[in-house]
Amino acid sequence: MASNRQVWLKSRPNGIPQAENFGIRDGDIPLIAEGEFLVQNHYLSSDPAARGWIADATTYWPRIEIGDTMRAFAVGEIIESRNPRYSTGEKVMGLFGWQEYAAATDKHVNLKIAPRDLPLSLYLGVLGLNGFTAYFGLLDVGLPKAGDTVVVSTAAGAVGSCVGQIAKIKGCRTLGIAGGAEKVRQCLDEFGFDAAIDYKAGIDLDEALRSACPEGVNVYFDNTSGSISDAVLRNLALGARIVICGTASYPSWSPWNMGPRPERHLLVKRSRMQGFLATDFLDRFPEAEVQISQWIKEGRINYREEIHEGLEHAPGSLQRLYKGENTGKFVMRLPVAKTRVNA
Ligand SMILES: NC(=O)c1ccc[n+]([C@@H]2O[C@H](COP(=O)([O-])OP(=O)(O)OC[C@H]3O[C@@H](n4cnc5c(N)ncnc54)[C@H](OP(=O)(O)O)[C@@H]3O)[C@@H](O)[C@H]2O)c1
Repeated sequence: MASNRQVWLKSRPNGIPQAENFGIRDGDIPLIAEGEFLVQNHYLSSDPAARGWIADATTYWPRIEIGDTMRAFAVGEIIESRNPRYSTGEKVMGLFGWQEYAAATDKHVNLKIAPRDLPLSLYLGVLGLNGFTAYFGLLDVGLPKAGDTVVVSTAAGAVGSCVGQIAKIKGCRTLGIAGGAEKVRQCLDEFGFDAAIDYKAGIDLDEALRSACPEGVNVYFDNTSGSISDAVLRNLALGARIVICGTASYPSWSPWNMGPRPERHLLVKRSRMQGFLATDFLDRFPEAEVQISQWIKEGRINYREEIHEGLEHAPGSLQRLYKGENTGKFVMRLPVAKTRVNA
């Protein structure tokens, strides 16, 4: 009898989720109801955002309860359908969870995948949440103009590397901030940043930013908050746009983080700071997918992936991401040769 291997939430962490916060179990392959379809996942994603989804704090989606299968982005194939808008054999990307099979409806789907001769795993990275976050965050929130200086934190990461490359395509000058010499090398050699700073090298970040951005920072794509952002805020150009994308530097949300006040910098530099979620732009995901896949095929967007075999890698993945140990977008490949059931 075939089963549905799943990763579930065993205990709620305060801070970075650890492997022991999760369990692995064999559940049933769901029977689908009218309006639903059954997705067999091929790849699962691990994203820093999952920390927020399980936190005992205000977040943007309902929190995951103890015992629930972990929410996660995945790509898979529809193997059974009772929904006229979704056909057997179609590939989809969406919130199908850290599991092998998911009963899904329209609301779980982020993108129907058109055949483009590109690896399916990319729909969890540069052609999925990470790429779309970079695309809409930079272009719609950051509003870059040719000639602007764009600064990106976690610049070698899945989102950051894409932000830097899109900014270059739009004629901007790019500066990446990343942790460690190898990530700085990736920023310069693989992702085309004009300059990169290793914030872990014991340098004076204010001084490094002043010398790399003598005219100030026009767009700051903020993936970290914390001391990196404090330094960038002291180096803004007039009319700067600060895109709040992530808060990777926060060790925990309880007690709440305290830090320098940004208001004076924003006032003096007549600047704007705005948070956003990639999913605010859900209706426009197909536009981003078409554009980014074209840039990939033209060789204008590069990406890195770290592909693991099996969902057993899921429980330890978040601590790895928050230590900055991953060497590319963290994706798990599932064995897809299982017998179809409920057919
Ligand atoms: N708003 C949205 O809709 C949305 C959507 C997707 C992702 N995000 C956010 O975008 C950011 C990047 O996501 P990603 O998937 O591309 O992950 P990522 O950048 O590949 O991985 C997270 C990175 O955070 C950095 N980091 C960890 N602890 C840090 C600390 N204490 N101080 C500074 N940096 C630290 C590490 O980079 P270094 O090694 O360079 O330090 C690590 O590689 C995350 O904050 C994520 O939550 C937001």
